[in-house]
Amino acid sequence: MKIRFGADYYPEHWPRERWETDAKLMEEMGLDVIRMAEFSWSKMEPSLGNYNFGWLDEAIEILARHGMKTVLGTPTATPPAWIIEQSPEILPVDSKGRTRGFGGRHHDCQSNPVYRAHIHRFVTAMAQHYKDNPNVIGWQIDNELGNSHNDLCHCSSCRSHFQEWLANKYGSIDNLNARWGTAFWSQTYDKFEQIPTPMITPNSHNPSLLLDWKRFHSDLIVEFQQFQIDIIRDICKDQFITHNLMGFFGLIDYFDLGKNLDFVSHDQYATGYFDNPQPGKSPQRLGAELDFVRGVKQQTFWIMEQQSGPTGWEILGRTPRPGQLALWAAQTVAHGADTVVFFRWRPCSFGTEEYWHGILHHSGVPGRRYDELKNMISQLAPLMDEFKGALPESEVAILYSYEQNWAFEIQPHHPKLNYTHQVQKYYKALYDAQIPVDFINHKEDLSKYKLVIAPLQFLMTRKMEDKFKDYVKQGGRLVLTMRTGVKNMDNVCMTDGHLPGGLGDLLGIEIKDYDCLRAMDMGVEFEGKAYRSEKWCDIVSPTTARTIASYTEDFYAGTPAITVGKAGKGEAYYVGTEPDDNLMREFIKLLTRISGISSLGKAPEGVELVRRRTSTFDYIFALNHTEEIQELEPAADWQQVLGEKELAPYGIAVFKVKR
Ligand code: GAL
Ligand code: ZN
Repeated sequence: MKIRFGADYYPEHWPRERWETDAKLMEEMGLDVIRMAEFSWSKMEPSLGNYNFGWLDEAIEILARHGMKTVLGTPTATPPAWIIEQSPEILPVDSKGRTRGFGGRHHDCQSNPVYRAHIHRFVTAMAQHYKDNPNVIGWQIDNELGNSHNDLCHCSSCRSHFQEWLANKYGSIDNLNARWGTAFWSQTYDKFEQIPTPMITPNSHNPSLLLDWKRFHSDLIVEFQQFQIDIIRDICKDQFITHNLMGFFGLIDYFDLGKNLDFVSHDQYATGYFDNPQPGKSPQRLGAELDFVRGVKQQTFWIMEQQSGPTGWEILGRTPRPGQLALWAAQTVAHGADTVVFFRWRPCSFGTEEYWHGILHHSGVPGRRYDELKNMISQLAPLMDEFKGALPESEVAILYSYEQNWAFEIQPHHPKLNYTHQVQKYYKALYDAQIPVDFINHKEDLSKYKLVIAPLQFLMTRKMEDKFKDYVKQGGRLVLTMRTGVKNMDNVCMTDGHLPGGLGDLLGIEIKDYDCLRAMDMGVEFEGKAYRSEKWCDIVSPTTARTIASYTEDFYAGTPAITVGKAGKGEAYYVGTEPDDNLMREFIKLLTRISGISSLGKAPEGVELVRRRTSTFDYIFALNHTEEIQELEPAADWQQVLGEKELAPYGIAVFKVKR
């Protein structure tokens, strides 16, 4: 069966008489999969052990009669009121020591043993009930794990789990004291039981404690998911397991979270959440999130929630312009989604998300959004079978590390320095040049890429240094940047030499001084032209490296801003500052030119080209993110299989090219 498009559906919000009408409209629209039940615990188990799956069985059955399969969510983001009444200790505690109450969702502590027992009982019952249902093809664990858990949880259960995690990691309290540097401010611990979770204090916590807390928190959520995966895998032999990620959401290491899933899914909201005015996220930000999600397993993925109307809870975003919903959905397919499920089928008439719109109106009558998406599905779905599973085959990779991100969240240096934003600056220059990019983590093989960009490699290990050195010696081109090799993995500053430590030889530089620019920016000369850079300047002394850009101001005017060192068959670049968009564009141009990296083609500004590559064909998507008509000039061998050469506002075209 072909599973390409779907919707998130809440039959329990609508009268039973409506379900048939919905199923019919879904079928006519071309949907083949529906996700349900991820928040319906109280409906499925109204009181302890009193299981009520009849309504859901019926909904699944009706949908199946109309040709649709079902994905079920485990409803563990919404423990029902009766559970909380019996065991209020399940409620999470924030860093100010306040218990967060029932009444929203995610009102749970993920380490709490009583809650785990409820989950074990319920998920087992649900899995048993659906294991042989031929219309249930898979499971989503919980929903957007980590969402709403930002500041949580500091309850006594989480505290003792954290202490256990630390005891496991450090073996002895003396070892922890030494590695964290608890000699500072008299923080030496006698036993693990004294160690706090980072609750509010008169001032800042030890950065080593904070980094371990972030690691622990990520591990806890990964383990929370694994607890459910184990139950379902044991019972349901033929159904897949996935989870819906949130792009660059920073609380959980998605490389860990994705590891034991069959594939990952992602929730894509182009206008963002409440505080984002239209147009919300830029096209390249959307592209970056999708490329990142593909990178989590280096596999194609599902979109489990794709925006299908104006979004908002109390405050609303703008209405997607005609064509935009279809464009955004096609963009996800272009970047590697094999299935796109729209959130949501119809906006609810009650509850917190009344104004988070769906494909239909509140009235249940199909309108502009339904027609637009139906039309897109009819054109794109048949093509999707041809490139299912196909990746872009990028020649450039950007290294993404959660630990680096966390370390900069703890100590951003500059008030506006943000790891994920900096990574995206490099991405944008490649995106604008129509060059496909992979995001990889540090465990991935670097050697298949002509160019690897690794911004802000702040925390460093000998192993990682060796990996970088090997890559370059074998002929790779590596870009490292400011604040590389500053700290060890305990989040403690290195002291055994000048920055960038063990990578100094590879890069051919030493850094003995630096300057946090704060409100200033800096002039940089590159290839005879003047540019600006911001946030930070490393004051670099080349040992063997060649200078390719220099600062033009302040007491370090004339010293290098960008250098290149040769090692073996490759080259290692160092960027000592955060280049502005113009400098970044020119620097990336230089890098891709000398690395022999080709772009996908030429397109007018605002038109994105994306590739999916099978063994025999390239499928090139042209996506018009502007509200004007755009004229494409496809290469002679590009055979147009969708759309027109003249792209409508927010229009889509697909070309097939023989390899
Ligand atoms: C997502 C979430 C959905 C829904 C949507 C709109 O983050 O997974 O359940 O809440 O946002 O707020
Ligand atoms: Zn807790």
